[in-house]
Amino acid sequence: MNALATAEEELYVRKIRMGTVIDHISAGHALSVLRILGLTGKENNVVSIAMNVRSKKLGRKDIVKVEDRELDAEEVDKIALIAPKATINIIRDYEVVEKQEAKLPKIIRGIIKCDNPICVSSGKEPIQPTFFMEKEDPLRLRCYYCNRIMNKDSIVRQF
Ligand code: CTP
Ligand code: ZN
Repeated sequence: MNALATAEEELYVRKIRMGTVIDHISAGHALSVLRILGLTGKENNVVSIAMNVRSKKLGRKDIVKVEDRELDAEEVDKIALIAPKATINIIRDYEVVEKQEAKLPKIIRGIIKCDNPICVSSGKEPIQPTFFMEKEDPLRLRCYYCNRIMNKDSIVRQF
């Protein structure tokens, strides 16, 4: 296969002029990324999605390109939970001006809720849900307040 054919096969969605490309999303999680970003399709942003495309690094991956939109820190943290290998590329004038690797924090505060209905952080008290990173792959978080283990499925369900 020549280089041109390879390049053409690799570009599933055309390049964008301005916005954010979330690349190397764990295959099957593109729609969760859209939910995290609050993108329902009713906004004006142009959004392109590629799912289960071949990737040298991951075998298979998803890609989400959101035009005219940059992400805030909380969105990046949420994406890291479901797609720890994601790369967030900020695009301006067709150039990648910033590339950020998603990073799983050791302590996760305030971005997901504890599944345990009687956990003190699930009640009326103004307590920020807090989890320790117990295991990265497969993902396991442990609630600081009640020790409930949260796995990836229960986390994805919240987004
Ligand atoms: N991209 C895009 N529009 C642009 C520039 C880049 O959609 N104007 C996309 C590319 O298609 C790629 C991602 O943004 O999916 C990152 O671009 P780049 O850093 O050029 O690609 P790689 O070097 O392959 O990235 P990495 O090293 O992160 O794999
Ligand atoms: Zn708890």
